[in-house]
Amino acid sequence: MTEQTRREFLSQIPSETSLAERVLLYELFKNAWDGEGKVVEIGPFLGGTTRAIAAGMMMNSRRAEGADLHTFDRFSDYHTPENLRKMMESMVQLKIFTASDADRLCATGSFLTLFRAIHEPQDYYKILHVHDSPMPDYPQEVNSSTALDCFNGETALGAVFIDGCKSWASTHYAMKYLLPRTRLNAPIIFQDFAWYTCYWISAFVYALRDYFTYEKHADSTYVFRLKQAVSEKEITKLFTTTPEAMGALFFQQADDYLFTQSQARNDNRGALIARLHHIAALASTQRLDAAAKILKSINPYDYKAHVDLIKGCLSSPTYRPCGKKILWTDKN
Ligand SMILES: C[S@@+](CC[C@H](N)C(=O)[O-])C[C@H]1O[C@@H](n2cnc3c(N)ncnc32)[C@H](O)[C@@H]1O
Repeated sequence: MTEQTRREFLSQIPSETSLAERVLLYELFKNAWDGEGKVVEIGPFLGGTTRAIAAGMMMNSRRAEGADLHTFDRFSDYHTPENLRKMMESMVQLKIFTASDADRLCATGSFLTLFRAIHEPQDYYKILHVHDSPMPDYPQEVNSSTALDCFNGETALGAVFIDGCKSWASTHYAMKYLLPRTRLNAPIIFQDFAWYTCYWISAFVYALRDYFTYEKHADSTYVFRLKQAVSEKEITKLFTTTPEAMGALFFQQADDYLFTQSQARNDNRGALIARLHHIAALASTQRLDAAAKILKSINPYDYKAHVDLIKGCLSSPTYRPCGKKILWTDKN
């Protein structure tokens, strides 16, 4: 595959990630992954990232027998049928689907059949295991969830890619479940690490900072390596089931640490995100005034390339697990 063909292949599927992020995933699984253990993806949507990971894995000459890709989503409650159909128009234009196939595949809000139809014709489909399995989004659902039970008894997962943990509770659950079952030095990749609303992701990385080594990033996607074994008990202690239980000081310290780390590697977006995640954390734990104070202290001219993230935060710093936006009040 030439560079150009590969970029086209990685651009065919409508995706909520950038091409740079998908190229990072492709290259990582082709060249920098040791080829051992099952790979886990949470939140593929239509599978732009799934394709990047799976195609990279297929090109990796070290990939061991059984080192397959397991992808998990709830495959519904995301976009309306009309929106899905609009998104799929690009694949109709590319003649990958006929218009009537696209109409049929987008007729309901569920996108599991659509997902399969996109990936089934591809060579990598043989290493893909699709799990229609929602992560728990509320703390009270965590203990009874069976979302990842197919990995009971696993001890050597090969990599983890998270793009579907859109709440504190789902991050707590997925990490507590997956990391103790993951091989040392495996890539742990967070697509939302530098997305302004998802403070739970950087908070988790901060809480587990002694267990992670930063490796690289593209746009919002950050790659870490698991450098030390961690147990479920340790994770529960370091990252409680709710943000309230962590306390305001934790988020202040996370901001300071992540800001300093980002600055040290000239990562201007990461530095801004440290602040925006602090704001999001305070806003979601009933401290809107303190959150507004930090937002007012940010000089947008320091972050010219990322002003959209600041605008997003001005409109709503984060959201509740049900997707309901947290809004500023007139008082702030
Ligand atoms: C931002 S999209 C993922 C984008 C995707 N990786 C791509 O390449 O375009 C987030 C995905 O997470 C899924 N998701 C959100 N909350 C979830 C949950 N609690 N359990 C499982 N999947 C969830 C959504 O259905 C959606 O497909």
